[in-house]
Amino acid sequence: MASLRSALLPFARVSLRTRHAQLPSLPPSLGLMRGYKSRGPARDPMTGEMIALPDIDPSLLKLEPTSSPKIRPPSSTLIFGRTFTDHMLTIRWSSNSGWQAPVIGPYRPLELDPSSTVLHYAFTAFEGMKAYRNEDGTVRLFRPDMNMARLNRSAARAALPTFDPKALETLIKKLVMLDSEWIPNEPGYSLYIRPTLIGTQNALGVGPNSDALLFVICSPVGPYYASGYKPVQLLATKKYVRAWPGGTGSHKLGVNYGPGIVPQSEAAKEGYSQNLWLFGEDDALTEVGTMNLFVAFKKPDGGVELATPPLGDLVLPGVTRDSVLALARGHIKGEKIPGLPDNLTVTERKVVMGELEEAEKNGTLSEVFGTGTAAVISVVDRIGYNGRDITIPTGPRGLGPIAESLLSRVTDIQTGKIEHEWSIVANDVRL
Ligand SMILES: Cc1ncc(COP(=O)(O)O)c(C=O)c1O
Repeated sequence: MASLRSALLPFARVSLRTRHAQLPSLPPSLGLMRGYKSRGPARDPMTGEMIALPDIDPSLLKLEPTSSPKIRPPSSTLIFGRTFTDHMLTIRWSSNSGWQAPVIGPYRPLELDPSSTVLHYAFTAFEGMKAYRNEDGTVRLFRPDMNMARLNRSAARAALPTFDPKALETLIKKLVMLDSEWIPNEPGYSLYIRPTLIGTQNALGVGPNSDALLFVICSPVGPYYASGYKPVQLLATKKYVRAWPGGTGSHKLGVNYGPGIVPQSEAAKEGYSQNLWLFGEDDALTEVGTMNLFVAFKKPDGGVELATPPLGDLVLPGVTRDSVLALARGHIKGEKIPGLPDNLTVTERKVVMGELEEAEKNGTLSEVFGTGTAAVISVVDRIGYNGRDITIPTGPRGLGPIAESLLSRVTDIQTGKIEHEWSIVANDVRL
């Protein structure tokens, strides 16, 4: 009986998945956060009984501290994403057993079978988030709930398992606290955290993964603007498309990033640092490099409009984008941010290149900047489009008033200079 059962299992799983897809759907919040539930719990193929697969459980954590800590390099020598801390978190998943006990152990290479699906079909969903440490040792994460929700959303899109977001957030706090000495506490320094989820099924068939691995690694990073604010130059790109309706561009999947290198190299050859990704007949602006995009226009009534392309298939829902929008809208409602204009309006709407050309001509193009975890705000001073450059004023300090005030407000919240519900202290976790 046992051998018949194991012989049937792979087929049973496939047919059950199909059946679950037809069950009434769960509320969107559950569907987003707890994907295995939205597929419906697995059933025993012989008895048809529901089998509740275990979710990530921080109480099962196996802590295996390194016996040979690395020598930490001086902060001033750090290059983004090249240095890694002593430990990493790993959690394995299988469709039979669910999430297994999390392990925090020494940072080390992964061992993968050459047939692992991640190596062939790009089953990789990832996140980028940061921890900040004060001189008094307080360690803070910035809106980690948003990164957890986005990773779950990416996982669901890539047929990878989803998880309890609070449980992973707790484990990340533990990892960060274990390696907290690695977070430089000089101004502008932080710890970049990279949660990654990969498909590890050892089989070449293209289908849902029976096995996956979630791991989290951490890298101390220096200030983005170490030598003053440096505006970037963009090449408005029509030859390549980053995202398209029905595609995966609004998910943080590895598959979206590798193909961006050739366009970026071509832009670099023409003297631009990033691509400005356009979409459609009317050359709508979508994102800049791997950042969300904001444009400030002066209005005829003397006011200023801060516009950003709307979310949808073409735009990644950035945590910084959401924060900038919320802060700017808060300012309009009365939670004033010094430096932002009084008569500000904030819009999420389609912006096309023709509008930028027109605004440059009229003198109403006031600021363009990208937003993302790495730089928070990255100012643009030039956009190559149709063989000529559109010039954007950046002022003597290299960034306009809107970019400057939002950059300083976001970083003050991230570092705890301003108390805010977005800034989550990690020191309270027990190791
Ligand atoms: C394509 C893309 N757009 C925008 C962003 C900015 O997102 P966030 O503010 O969450 O870092 C990122 C970085 O994660 C990205 O990869």
